Amino acid sequence: MKVNSVLLIWACILLQECPLTLSEEDNSEPGDNVNPCCYYPCQHWGVCVRFGLDRYECDCTRTGYYGENCTIPEFWSGVFEFLRPSPNSVHYILTHFRWLWDLINKTFLRDFLMRMVLTVRSNLIPSPPTYNSKYDYINWESYSNITYYTRLLPPVPLDCPTPMGTKGKIQLPDPKLLVEKFMLRRKFRPDPQGTNLMFAFFAQHFTHQFFKTHNRVGLGFTKALGHGVDAGHVYGDNLDRQLDLRLHRDGKLKYQIIKGEMYPPTVTETNVNMSYPKSVPPEGQMAIGQEVFGLLPGLSMYATLWLREHNRVCDILKKEHPTWGDEQLFQTTRLIIIGETIRIVIEEYVQHLSGYYLKLKFDPTLLFRSQFQYQNRIAVEFNQLYHWHPLMPDSFFIDGDEIPYSQFIYNTSLLTHYGIEKLVQAFSTQAAGQVGGGHNMHQVVTRVAEGVIKESRELRLRPFNEYRKRFNLKPYTSFSEFTGEKKIARELEELYGDIDALEFYPALLLEKTRPGNIFGESMVEMGAPFSLKGLLGNPICSPEYWKPSTFGGQIGFDIVNSATLEKLVCLNTKWCPYVAFYLPPSDSHQQGKTIESRSEL
Ligand code: HEM
Ligand SMILES: *[C@@H]1O[C@H](CO)[C@@H](O)[C@H](O)[C@H]1NC(C)=O
Ligand SMILES: *[C@@H]1O[C@H](CO)[C@@H](O)[C@H](O)[C@H]1NC(C)=O
Ligand SMILES: *[C@@H]1O[C@H](CO)[C@@H](O)[C@H](O)[C@H]1NC(C)=O
Ligand SMILES: *[C@@H]1O[C@H](CO)[C@@H](O)[C@H](O)[C@H]1NC(C)=O
Ligand SMILES: *[C@@H]1O[C@H](CO)[C@@H](O)[C@H](O)[C@H]1NC(C)=O
Repeated sequence: MKVNSVLLIWACILLQECPLTLSEEDNSEPGDNVNPCCYYPCQHWGVCVRFGLDRYECDCTRTGYYGENCTIPEFWSGVFEFLRPSPNSVHYILTHFRWLWDLINKTFLRDFLMRMVLTVRSNLIPSPPTYNSKYDYINWESYSNITYYTRLLPPVPLDCPTPMGTKGKIQLPDPKLLVEKFMLRRKFRPDPQGTNLMFAFFAQHFTHQFFKTHNRVGLGFTKALGHGVDAGHVYGDNLDRQLDLRLHRDGKLKYQIIKGEMYPPTVTETNVNMSYPKSVPPEGQMAIGQEVFGLLPGLSMYATLWLREHNRVCDILKKEHPTWGDEQLFQTTRLIIIGETIRIVIEEYVQHLSGYYLKLKFDPTLLFRSQFQYQNRIAVEFNQLYHWHPLMPDSFFIDGDEIPYSQFIYNTSLLTHYGIEKLVQAFSTQAAGQVGGGHNMHQVVTRVAEGVIKESRELRLRPFNEYRKRFNLKPYTSFSEFTGEKKIARELEELYGDIDALEFYPALLLEKTRPGNIFGESMVEMGAPFSLKGLLGNPICSPEYWKPSTFGGQIGFDIVNSATLEKLVCLNTKWCPYVAFYLPPSDSHQQGKTIESRSEL
């Protein structure tokens, strides 16, 4: 410890008051009693452990690197590091050269590349999970208490000199200021990949089965204990709720018929609670697995589709297995619903989002000969990065009407007034906003973004650049490299002081986007691993489960293996609207087609 700081501390004790400069002087370099792990010295996934007062060691075991800070590559790591193409080049190849992909799609190379995508991405996610927001070291409580979200990087140590470690200012920028200055929409900017609202509501609906934050302000707890694709948004996140939602006949879910169509039952007909404002009476509330899905007609639309699909599959299974009781029909159908979901997500949702010309494939057998853990734990970072609120438009266009947010949110009559077909048609033909690039978040959801930033500080999320390194990306060296321009870069620099102090969520939304893309590099490179690990880590993808008998025989297995978004809609509606995750290719909006005209159904 330097002599002058010893003197200062003595002066403090004697005078019982500290010179204001003490804390700043004191934490300027290692060797003072700043926790040395606050400097994030260990590279390449090395683990920082503190010893004594001012010493640390990096545990570089199996990182492929050695040395004090795990910076020196072992032979093969050096070779791989040298040969590894940058994520941007890989992305470029996967999204260009259509003629090449047309060939590859038809050969064994498709399987080979799909297996690569799955393994390279999932290998970035530790499994079994490691830390949570209470524990920054490996321990049993953190592993076993599944009421926590896990996290990839441990929290910023509590005794660091700045909120982000050692870099940046003592005070982080005001969240409200960040949101209004950089995220609030000026003019609606449609997503250049052609993403529509059908995609946006699918994203929200699908992810809210595993993002159900409990006690928002605190240690990062979740109510969704399935930690993955368990269809808890259809069946409820606990057994009591599931039993209340079930008809207890033929495996089916309760429903009501309105204008000759099947919809979720009302809250009065079940015993479940939904989150609605007080102004909505229980008879007007639909009972859905996920408590908050009354919020938007887009969510109750998907809830209705999955309800109809569940009951449709029950009929098919019952015909195959007349001896089966309610319980077996229900349980088997649930697995089919989970399988259909994963297939639609990989082959259509992720396919669209990625923009890849490689034809993605949902085939669990691709992983049967590799080391892969069939388990998953949802991470706080995944939750933070999935706040894609810029997708939301300025207002909603349905069947010739323009509906503002004030008449859209918690409006219980819209769903049945228009019916599923017209809503699908409307959402599939209206553009969603570009998520990345800043200045594209509608004012109704800016409060949510502020909440995300506040939460990340409560949870002491590490700086964006630390996450870049964790995902094998080069940390940014300047704000202008990060935004790709000058003005916003300067403003951010003024607020944060140091690129190494930039926060996770603001960075994901403000990073320069890839040309013509919905996101920047980091959202994709960080989001895809969590996503694919969650999808393939599902037990139904494991060798013991992935066989026809699990799904009630070949018929059920075939339903899983041929599920599409279009079938989800059109096998459960009277007529078949335009349905996709992207806008119709030409500007001549296709009008509804009849189901007969679609031979593949
Ligand atoms: C108009 C449409 C939307 C509104 C009004 C809305 C509103 C909200 C609100 C109020 C919260 C809770 C915030 C809190 O507890 O602090 C939330 C959470 C969230 N929203 Fe949205 N949202 C909308 C659309 C979307 C969309 C399209 C997505 C796309 C994925 C999305 C993703 C999320 C996620 C991941 C969470 C965190 C959920 C959790 O941890 O429990 N939202 N949203
Ligand atoms: C390891 O990291 C620390 C802290 O960042 C630094 O002071 C030290 O010089 C590094 N050691 C080596 C060998 O690079
Ligand atoms: C999980 O941890 C929280 C906070 O420490 C505690 O309140 C809760 O009882 C734990 N749950 C279980 C199942 O151990
Ligand atoms: C539903 O809400 C009511 C009133 O808040 C409460 O008394 C009841 O226990 C809740 N029911 C369930 C199943 O949570
Ligand atoms: C291969 O991918 C390209 C780009 O998505 C697509 O146009 C083509 O139809 C695909 N080929 C096959 C055989 O699916
Ligand atoms: C629900 O939407 C309909 C149709 O746009 C509108 O007439 C009605 O006022 C809305 N209800 C509420 C409570 O906003």
